[in-house]
Amino acid sequence: MTETDFTAEWLDTRYSFDSKARNQQVEAAFKNYFFGRKEIQLMDVGAGTGNNLRYWFRQLESPQKWTNVELNPELLALGFQQAAQLLTTEGYGVKQFENHISGMKRKNGRFHEVRLLALQESFLDFAFEILPVKPDVVLANAVFDLLSPEMFVAFAEKLIEHRIPLLSTINIAGLEWSTATFQDKYYSRCYLHHMNRPQAFGMALGAHVTNFAIDFYKKHQVNVEWGRSDWQIAETDTAMLLANLNYMEQAIPEMLPEAEHSAFSEWLSDKRKQVEAQKLRLNVYHYDWFVYF
Ligand SMILES: C[S@@+](CC[C@H](N)C(=O)[O-])C[C@H]1O[C@@H](n2cnc3c(N)ncnc32)[C@H](O)[C@@H]1O
Repeated sequence: MTETDFTAEWLDTRYSFDSKARNQQVEAAFKNYFFGRKEIQLMDVGAGTGNNLRYWFRQLESPQKWTNVELNPELLALGFQQAAQLLTTEGYGVKQFENHISGMKRKNGRFHEVRLLALQESFLDFAFEILPVKPDVVLANAVFDLLSPEMFVAFAEKLIEHRIPLLSTINIAGLEWSTATFQDKYYSRCYLHHMNRPQAFGMALGAHVTNFAIDFYKKHQVNVEWGRSDWQIAETDTAMLLANLNYMEQAIPEMLPEAEHSAFSEWLSDKRKQVEAQKLRLNVYHYDWFVYF
């Protein structure tokens, strides 16, 4: 199965970087497409703690019915509680049931509802046929790079078959340290290769995800609006820089021969010192795409 071992702390740390990075032109295409709808049904796949709902619910004028599909039960449960809190803080009257929430608020003289249904399952196995109403759009933030090409194709074909638009954001494409030394570039490549390492389900797309997806959509002659959504992590964003280094500490040694481990440890320790001294920046390159009919 795909990777589900993410912490709520990491998803929370990256939220503000994702929010700043999201591509404005892609977002405009998405918002225009749904402008003026009486209601919009959104399905967030690999929803984690619900960062997509957190990002979008104030921005969409129409009443919203969200279905969050997530395999990791802790992330799903935490996201459920956080959504109830968020809606309450925003002045919604909130009713909470076993796996769904309804929030109601008067807006411009009308009732505005935000609903959330939380489903613990793999979105790859999701059968759209069982739904009485299919989603108006599927959203996926930082998810598709975890899939193998075969998994991506099977899911994307399902969406095309049902003519369901897709907003896929923060798909990784590369990274670059401000110091740009030979070692920085070498370890960055190792980190990206780690995403494509053989796993039980095959090899994940990692940083190739956007090229692969755009080729796929061109072949299927569907409309795609796409563009960059890079994280620009500044010298002062020390928690985010350290979180990225912590991921690298786990991943990169798996890609190196034993003889190179001590050189990598030294590099890592230098990087942490540069973060402490606020002398290091990191750009992580991503793409967003909106696929529509
Ligand atoms: C990098 S996290 C992103 C979470 C969330 N979209 C966000 O932006 O914060 C990827 C998420 O996809 C979930 N995931 C991975 N494979 C999945 C699958 N087959 N079905 C459902 N969720 C999956 C993981 O558990 C994790 O929560």
